[in-house]
Amino acid sequence: MFRTHTNGALNISNISQEVTLAGWVQTIRDKGFMVWIDLRDRYGITQLVFDEERSSKELLEQARNLGREFVIQVQGKVIERASKNPKIPTGDIEILVEKLTVLNKSLLPPFTIEDETDGGEELRMKYRYLDIRRNPVKDKLIFRSQMAQKVRNYLSGEGFIEVETPVLIKSTPEGARDFVVPSRMNPGQFYALPQSPQTFKQLLMVAGMDKYFQIVKCFRDEDLRADRQPEFTQIDCEMSFVEQEDILNVFEGLASHLLKDVTGKDFGKFPRMTYDEAMRKYGNDKPDIRFGMEFAELDDLVKDKGFKIFDEAELVAGINVDGCAHYTRKQTDELTEWVKRPQIGASGLVWIKYQEDGTLTSSVNKFYTEEDLKALAERFSAKPGDLMLILSGAANKVRPQLSALRMELGNRLGLRKGDEFAPLWVVDFPLLEWDEETQRFYAMHHPFTSPKPEDIPLLDTDPGKVRANAYDMVLNGNEIGGGSIRIHDRDLQEKMFELLGFTPDDAEAQFGFLMNAFKYGAPPHGGLAFGFDRFTAILDGNEVIRDYIAFPKNNSGRDVMIDAPSPIHEEQLDELCLDVRLPEL
Ligand code: AMO
Repeated sequence: MFRTHTNGALNISNISQEVTLAGWVQTIRDKGFMVWIDLRDRYGITQLVFDEERSSKELLEQARNLGREFVIQVQGKVIERASKNPKIPTGDIEILVEKLTVLNKSLLPPFTIEDETDGGEELRMKYRYLDIRRNPVKDKLIFRSQMAQKVRNYLSGEGFIEVETPVLIKSTPEGARDFVVPSRMNPGQFYALPQSPQTFKQLLMVAGMDKYFQIVKCFRDEDLRADRQPEFTQIDCEMSFVEQEDILNVFEGLASHLLKDVTGKDFGKFPRMTYDEAMRKYGNDKPDIRFGMEFAELDDLVKDKGFKIFDEAELVAGINVDGCAHYTRKQTDELTEWVKRPQIGASGLVWIKYQEDGTLTSSVNKFYTEEDLKALAERFSAKPGDLMLILSGAANKVRPQLSALRMELGNRLGLRKGDEFAPLWVVDFPLLEWDEETQRFYAMHHPFTSPKPEDIPLLDTDPGKVRANAYDMVLNGNEIGGGSIRIHDRDLQEKMFELLGFTPDDAEAQFGFLMNAFKYGAPPHGGLAFGFDRFTAILDGNEVIRDYIAFPKNNSGRDVMIDAPSPIHEEQLDELCLDVRLPEL
């Protein structure tokens, strides 16, 4: 037997037992007459002891010659420790080693395998297999595995069938770039990796599967951010014979189940907010509602007072920051600089302080009387001690700018707590998005999303106003899932393709397989997909998904551990009929 116990298992009740353990050498402390070794595995740490009195000379020597991360096996007796360590479950005992076998040596690791390591990001990515030995990374992967298990159990319990869909497919319509794979057997032709299993899950509904789910890899060639990876995982779901309400209820059930599991709390019905309301109140379709600072619109109160910037603005809006009237000039100047950075792009920031003594002062005192400021403070529902911050300009600029400022202050003031959870649904998304550059409409979600039946007539008159039966689940300011009721009517689907600028031939070439399937009795259906990496990270109190993925890509989309992507051999290129021309550098 390699081991009788793992390194997290032994405690005072095991005293005097003969045990065999195996694992990695975490630390070696050599006091001359005594040597202690911390032996580590996935389950914990057990202290080993060797000493001049009780161990043979050879054994002591053997222990001294070990190095960090050597893999060893030991046999020995469980004894009570003289100085106990209450911080770990095995802290009351140690193993008096009788036999030590080195199972494998190790090079000195390039960074310390401790909770707090000295290794930088890139180095740890390169040696990810060593990084995963560290608790903070390992625990995240274990958490992810537990979540996946719970999702499977829950959805299976609700009658969902897990079906695997292919990875070598044809372009899917999620709006990012495809990763493509050349086909050797079909020279000059390419598979695309799925951006999602969208079309397949709809085909499964035509096939009568009724309730489908899959925990599935998706691939999108898009710019990376903390909450995005080119290769990520969805909990992808679809149901037949449902309306939007049914979908919201089923998946709110799943989310509540996971939230309860993590927090022990019941979340009740999730609030719902229309897209329009989210944009007006938070300037964002994924609002973090753990804290207030809702937008106040001020146009009617600030215009025609001689302040040109506000007079000329399409929208003047602001937020009230609780208890920050004490901010110094330096602090408000710094916030002004912050919103003026190119990433935010505001032209300036106006502030009003509601001072503790009840008086009001502002950076635009020249134009606004104390009476005016009072009216503004009332609009903000501000109280003495509060700081009001105001931006102005084009509405489609001001809203995202003010949203970024709100989130920044939320972070700075510690209002975005990792152990607090505020889920909500954002519903009634616009069906289409107008793109100025290409002068055409794009599907806001994807081209299979159904318009709200009552808005269908608008498709001919004012397509930009049509609302979709589409919804996102938002958690703590992150979009953790999204979906829609699909179009199951062939004529309506054709109309959508037309609106999106597809010629009938294009539509046939790209989505003919789906349109054809719809001729054979497509049931009304709809679904959604959760971003599993995101959902898991947030449930664990984080927003960066990289650590919840065993082998993630870095910011330039590279796997620095295996060094991918990388060139391939000339023969391989020939076989694939690929003629690769590199851009001139
Ligand atoms: P959508 O494109 O909204 O919908 O994706 C669903 C969820 O997947 C997550 N997500 C990502 N996570 C990590 N890295 C990425 N690059 C990334 N891109 C998306 C988000 C998002 O909410 N087929 C539709 C779903 C449907 O209509 O049923 C779809 O893929 O959390």
